[in-house]
Amino acid sequence: MSAPILVFDSGIGGLTVLRELRTHMPDRKFVYVADDAGFPYGDWQEDRLRERIVSLFKDLVPHYAPQLAVIACNTASTLVLEDLRAAFDIPFVGTVPAIKPAAERTRSGLISVLATPGTVRRDYTRDLIGRFAGHCAVRLVGSSELARLTEQSILGGETSDDAIAAEIASCFVEEEGRRTDIVVLACTHYPLIANRFRQLAPWPVDWLDPAEAIARRARSLSPAADDMPEGFDQAHFTSGEASYAMRRLIRGFGLEFSSERD
Ligand code: DGL
Repeated sequence: MSAPILVFDSGIGGLTVLRELRTHMPDRKFVYVADDAGFPYGDWQEDRLRERIVSLFKDLVPHYAPQLAVIACNTASTLVLEDLRAAFDIPFVGTVPAIKPAAERTRSGLISVLATPGTVRRDYTRDLIGRFAGHCAVRLVGSSELARLTEQSILGGETSDDAIAAEIASCFVEEEGRRTDIVVLACTHYPLIANRFRQLAPWPVDWLDPAEAIARRARSLSPAADDMPEGFDQAHFTSGEASYAMRRLIRGFGLEFSSERD
């Protein structure tokens, strides 16, 4: 059996990347790691978050011996990708705001990037805008609430339309007869509730999800497996205490907790 691909996020957002990875690589085995003990990452101080993630990988890499790791989290990728590449001898594929494709596709020239406050603050994100979107007006919208609201909503909790509408409202800009036409989903949690964004948006826009591009990139770095995997892929939650609703969701994604195997 070939080595698994490790998919990492702070919570359930990386599942939106996992589903594309599986579509593109049905013969690979996956391990899904959620640092739920550190969730949400959005407001973490940069040095502390960098140290935390590198130190988690010091355990994860020898434990799962992955062939490749996909950092399915913009907040982590825009901060720690280079540190991980320097520290470990496996390829890392990151998830970073899809500013380049948005800048290529926009017709109005008005783009918004919806992300966590951490991703919005990063030099990495500013640099992407400078390199690829010089001809556009880019509005950065950092939400401290949306990742948490997404988990709440997906796990069966009540989330009001007003709360979600308030978080996405400033993505919509109208200027001299032009309107925002693309909103980059720059947090992997957001595609899970993008249908609610569509319903609550003041006008239709293209909600850009980079998951497919990430899957294509990962496939280009991962040798085809010799045989089809058997059984469930594994899930590893750093808290070791996922709720019943979380366990049910995770099983629905064809994952079983590593502890359930022992
Ligand atoms: N899913 C993560 C991202 O793509 C972050 C969620 C969070 O921890 O706030 O940025």
